[in-house]
Amino acid sequence: MEIIHVSAECYPVAKVGGLGDVVGALPKYQNKLGHIAKVVMPMYLTKYLYEHQFEVVHKGSFGMGPYHLDYTVIKEVTNHNGFDLYLVDIFGLLDRENVYSYDDDTFRFLSFQIAVTDWISHWRHHPDVVHVHDHHTALIPFMMQNCFDYRHLAPIKTVLTIHNAQYQGWMGWDMAQNIPSWDQWKWGLLDWDKNINSLACGIKCASKVNTVSNGYLEELMRSANGLEFLFNLERQKCYGIVNGIDTEVWNPTLDSYIESNFEEDTIEAGKLANKQILCNQFNLDINKPLIVFIGRLVEDKGADLLPAGISDSIIYMQGKMNFLVLGSGNKNIESSLDSMSHHYFGYYNSRIGYNEKLAHQMYAGADFLLMPSRVEPCGLNQLYALAYGTMPMVRRTGGLKDTVKDIGEEGGFGICFNDTTVGEICHAVYRAINIFDEQKSFALIRKRMLAIDHSWEKSAEIYLNLYKS
Ligand code: GLC
Repeated sequence: MEIIHVSAECYPVAKVGGLGDVVGALPKYQNKLGHIAKVVMPMYLTKYLYEHQFEVVHKGSFGMGPYHLDYTVIKEVTNHNGFDLYLVDIFGLLDRENVYSYDDDTFRFLSFQIAVTDWISHWRHHPDVVHVHDHHTALIPFMMQNCFDYRHLAPIKTVLTIHNAQYQGWMGWDMAQNIPSWDQWKWGLLDWDKNINSLACGIKCASKVNTVSNGYLEELMRSANGLEFLFNLERQKCYGIVNGIDTEVWNPTLDSYIESNFEEDTIEAGKLANKQILCNQFNLDINKPLIVFIGRLVEDKGADLLPAGISDSIIYMQGKMNFLVLGSGNKNIESSLDSMSHHYFGYYNSRIGYNEKLAHQMYAGADFLLMPSRVEPCGLNQLYALAYGTMPMVRRTGGLKDTVKDIGEEGGFGICFNDTTVGEICHAVYRAINIFDEQKSFALIRKRMLAIDHSWEKSAEIYLNLYKS
C-alpha cells in the first residue's frame, strides 16, 4: 500500500508537540511492515533543512483568490528517517523559522494544502491513501473531492487523524474565495456554525477518522469544543488508535542524549547515575523523590496549577520531595514557574524552553512524571516515562486513562487521579513519596514499567487495517 502522510510537523525536521513525534515515527514503522509511507510537510527554515540534501521533484503553481502562487516540492535524498520526506516550498509563506504563530497562519496552511493537492493531482498514479493530520491539513479531502481541477483524486481514500480537537482551523467565509474553484453546492461541507471549520470539514469528508486513543474519542462525543454533535453524527467512521513510541529514539539502552544508558538489569544504578546529573545541575537532593513535569506550559496540560501544586506540596509535606519543570508556553505560567526557583531553592527548579536533550535526561533520571492534563488526546510523555522506568502521575483523561494503570489495581504501575485540582496534585505527590519510601517494591514496579510494550509495531498494524477497511 502507498500512504501519503500530510502534516504541519514531523520529527526531526520540525516539531512543536506530539504531532511531530507521531508523524516522524508512524511512517517509518509502516515502511518496516512492507508498505510505502511518505511524508509531506511545509519547507520551514529549520536546521534540518540546511543539514540535509534535497532534490527538486516538482514545480507547480495555483491561483489563490487574487494571487498566483508558485510552489516547489523537494525530496530529501538519503531517506534519512526511514521514509521518503517531501517538503513544499512556497516563497514568502512557508519558508519561515517557526512552524506556527504567524498572523497569516490560516493563509499559509491553506496554501500548503492546495500545493499538496495540486502536486498529487500531477502524479501519474494514485496513492492508496492520503492520511492527513489535524486541522492544518484537514481541508485536503474536501479539495480532492470538490475542486474541479482535482476531482480525479476523489476515488483516493483519505484518513484524518485528530491529535487535538481543541484547535479546528476556523476561518471566515471570505477565505472561501482562496480555495481553488470548487462546487458551490457543497458549501455545507466546509461550514460549521457559520464559519469555515477545517477540522469539521475533514471529519465530514475523510473516508475514516481517528483520534489518538479510545478514551479521547468517547470524551469528544460529549465535549469537543463545539463539534460533539458532528462526532455523534459521524461516529460510525470514527476510531480510537493509541499512539506508539519510537523505540529507536526513546530507548534507555541506546539513547545518546542521556548520561548513563541502562536496561532492565541495570535500571536502579542507571537511573541513579542519571538522577545525580540532574541533581548536580539543578541543586536538588538525590535522596528525595524527584518529580518532573515536561511539556507545554498551557492550561490544557494543567500547567497553570503547577505553581500552587508544587509550593503547597513543598510546604505541607515539609519538602520531602524535589521538583523539576521543563517547558515553555503561556508567559504568565512561565514567569511564575521561573521565579519560584529562588524561593524554593534546593527543592524546586525549572528550565523554561524547549530542550530535547534535557527532556531525555529527565525521563531517565526522574522518579515520577506529573501530567495533570485537563485534555490529553493520547499523551506521549507518560509512554516515554514508562520506557525509562519513571512512574507516571496522571489525571484520568483521554489517552492517559487508557495507558496508565493505578498501582492500587492489580498489575498497576502509575498514580492516577480524577481531577485537575491543586488538592489532587498534592495528594498524588503524597502517594509518590510513600511509594518512593518502599524502595524494594518501587524497584519491582519499575521493572514492570519497562516490560510494557508501547512500540509502534502494534499501532502501525491497526492503522493498516483501518486503511484496508
Ligand atoms: C497532541 C495531543 C497529545 C498527543 C499528540 C500526538 O499533542 O495533545 O495528547 O499524544 O498530539 O498524537
